[in-house]
Formats: sequence, structure tokens, C-alpha cells
Amino acid sequence: MILIKLGGSVITDKSRYRTFDGQRVSRLLDEIKRSGQRAVVVHGAGSFGHVLAKEHSLQDGLCDDTQIPAVARVQHDVRELSSMVVGKMLEKGIPAVSVAPGSCFVMDDGRLLINDSEALTGLYGLGIMPVLFGDVVLDRRKGFGICSGDQIMEALSGIFKPERVVFVSDVDGLYDRDPKTHKNAGLICEVTAEGLANIARETTVADVTGGVCSKMETMLRMCGPGRDCVLVNGTVENRLCSLLKGETVICTTARGDIR
Ligand code: IPE
Repeated sequence: MILIKLGGSVITDKSRYRTFDGQRVSRLLDEIKRSGQRAVVVHGAGSFGHVLAKEHSLQDGLCDDTQIPAVARVQHDVRELSSMVVGKMLEKGIPAVSVAPGSCFVMDDGRLLINDSEALTGLYGLGIMPVLFGDVVLDRRKGFGICSGDQIMEALSGIFKPERVVFVSDVDGLYDRDPKTHKNAGLICEVTAEGLANIARETTVADVTGGVCSKMETMLRMCGPGRDCVLVNGTVENRLCSLLKGETVICTTARGDIR
């Protein structure tokens, strides 16, 4: 099984509140189907989560009561986004159900706790794909917290032990410098913990769950014997399909374990 995260940057326009890219989601689902691989899909929140989360500093946890309506609003918006993603899956004959992390899991000081995975593994066993997503989740210490799709990926890789983990984003991979500000930035095809430590931590991505470097750290933690973790550009047609089929494509592969 392959664990795939469709990043918010590919399924929404991250700069415009609540803009769903249904066409792109359709194409990416077709690519997954065409690859013939069984997948479990997680998706990001994109502009259904980040815009309001940033405006109300939801990443800091409960600071004052004025944040509460925004928490409820973001939870509502990301559920709507997930319904749209799952709607596309059903249209394509992929049995799937949206599982809201905020309804069934809690966090403890930013750490996602999935103590009981029976509902998820049970659905998967029935042939129904559980689709989880970035959400606002109750946090035992902070009141609430942002649970990113990347954290969910890490939790699910522990549960499902996928043979491969793929993060689909709007960039070709990890660069040695920020490609948006440096013309000569070079793509890094393979990254290790040591390699990552030497990369400038500059980012132009203004979101509440970190940029490409923190994604790489998560990816490095998810690597294991026989399991690589790949970051691939989903805005380029067919790249995801080729990668899933085992072909060589432009991407960054994380190798090793940073702990
Ligand atoms: C963020 O999830 C969740 C919220 C802001 C509520 P992600 O961090 O996984 O979303 P993307 O992929 O960056 O959009």
C-alpha cells in the first residue's frame, strides 16, 4: 500500500480563501487509479484552513475566547473540503469516507494521539479508504491545536506500514536555496539528515504548519528499511502516476532516519 498526501497547495489555491481545485483533484485521482496501486490518501487544508488559522493565530492554541468562532469555522471549512475530495473519489469508483481527525483524536501539547486505530484499519479491511486531513483538534494542554496532514501521515505510516510514502506538493522537491528568490537554486534529488542540516531554512511559504524543510524532517522520520519517502510535484501532469508506477521522475527522495 502507498500512503499519499495531497498537499493543500495542489488541491486548493492557498492564497484565496476556500478555493477548491476540483479539476486537479480529479486528475490526480485518475493518476492514482491508473497506477494500479492501492493507496490511502490524506489531504491538506490549503486555503480552507490556513487563511483563518493564521488570521486568528490558531497555531498558538487557546489564547482568548475570540478565537473560538474561528476554530469552529475552520473545522467546518476543512470538513467541506474533505467532502469535496471524497465526492471526487466516489465519482471515480473509489470507495472512501472522510474521517475528521478533530472528531475522533486529541492532541497533547501538539502531539497527535491515535490510541485506537481499529476504526481506520477496519474500514481499510472492508475496502473503504479512510481519508483524513489537516484539521483543528482538541489539545489537552493548549485547548486546541493545528493537526497537519503531515502529522497524520506520520501516525498512519505507523498504523498501515506502507511500502512507500508520497507527498504531493506544488514544487519539484527540495532545493538547496529558496527557488522563488534564487535563480540558481538546485534541486536535491536525495536528502539525508546531514544534508538537510546544511540547507538554508528560508521559506516563502506563509502557512501555520511550516515549510518544505519541516516536511523533509517529517519525511526522514517516516523512512525505514525498504521504505522511501518522496516529495513530488502534482501540478505537472502524469508525474505522480509515473512515480507510483516505479518510473524515474523529478522529485526529492528522503533517505534514512534523523532520530
Ligand atoms: C493544516 O494542514 C491544517 C489547518 C491549517 C487547519 P496541512 O498543513 O496538512 O495543510 P497544507 O497541506 O499545508 O495545506
